[in-house]
Amino acid sequence: MPLLKTADVTKRFGGLVAVNGMSLEVNSGQVVALIGPNGAGKSTLINLLSGLYSPDEGEIHFNGDAIENRTPAQIALLGVGRTFQIPRVFHRLTVIDNVLVPVAHRAVISGDVRGRARELLELVDLGDKAGQYARELSGGQQKLLELARALMAEPSLVLMDEPFAGVHPQLRETLIHAIREVNRNQGTTFLIVSHEMPVVAAMCNWVYAMHLGSNFLEGTPTEVLEDERLVDIYLGEDEGVAS
Ligand SMILES: Nc1ncnc2c1ncn2[C@@H]1O[C@H](COP(=O)(O)OP(=O)(O)O)[C@@H](O)[C@H]1O
Ligand SMILES: [Mg+2]
Repeated sequence: MPLLKTADVTKRFGGLVAVNGMSLEVNSGQVVALIGPNGAGKSTLINLLSGLYSPDEGEIHFNGDAIENRTPAQIALLGVGRTFQIPRVFHRLTVIDNVLVPVAHRAVISGDVRGRARELLELVDLGDKAGQYARELSGGQQKLLELARALMAEPSLVLMDEPFAGVHPQLRETLIHAIREVNRNQGTTFLIVSHEMPVVAAMCNWVYAMHLGSNFLEGTPTEVLEDERLVDIYLGEDEGVAS
């Protein structure tokens, strides 16, 4: 049974069909890429998977549970974490308190829990920034912080929307390293929206290419990245058809 499965998922905004009968499967332990030109529906799909939106049609199963009508909090509790295309950290909290947000409802935050938060900050190379305010971090560092925060809840699946976009190459390496470590050591599954083809080729087991809200192509990174049809959909974007 796949860890995550969507069947014919559709999401409309008024007359615009952002996601149009999208089907995908993600197996446990994989690092899967979701690529496709701007406007293809990638972020909308991530928002559907994490419960920010409910689909107009179709089904989403996580670990065997139907989740298409659950709230983001319920889906997070089932073991789905996420990061955002534009990082959403709490600017007025310290870096370590941001990591502790997923456990903030607990009456007491034990030393062990704080220790785990510190380990996660070390993993993303922000150990020496623990006491600073999150607003003092660069955009790239905020993306790293979001990953640490998502991992604090011990998710089995992490959804990442364009984690590498606009991130300094050195921080990008840190991010890649952290994802690999967590995938290898904890078996955590990742679904990553990215346009960085070399990164996709280097770290992903499987690639889905979305176009006009649907699954246009899928396969191993080599198969998909060498497929001429992929060039066509990205060139279509340059003609200014998509907004
Ligand atoms: N909240 C929204 N309201 C209306 N239209 C939206 C909304 N979110 C996305 N869209 C539209 O849906 C389409 C897919 O957007 P999006 O999922 O952000 O694509 P991608 O992440 O692949 O660039 C685009 O045409 C976009 O303008
Ligand atoms: Mg997007």
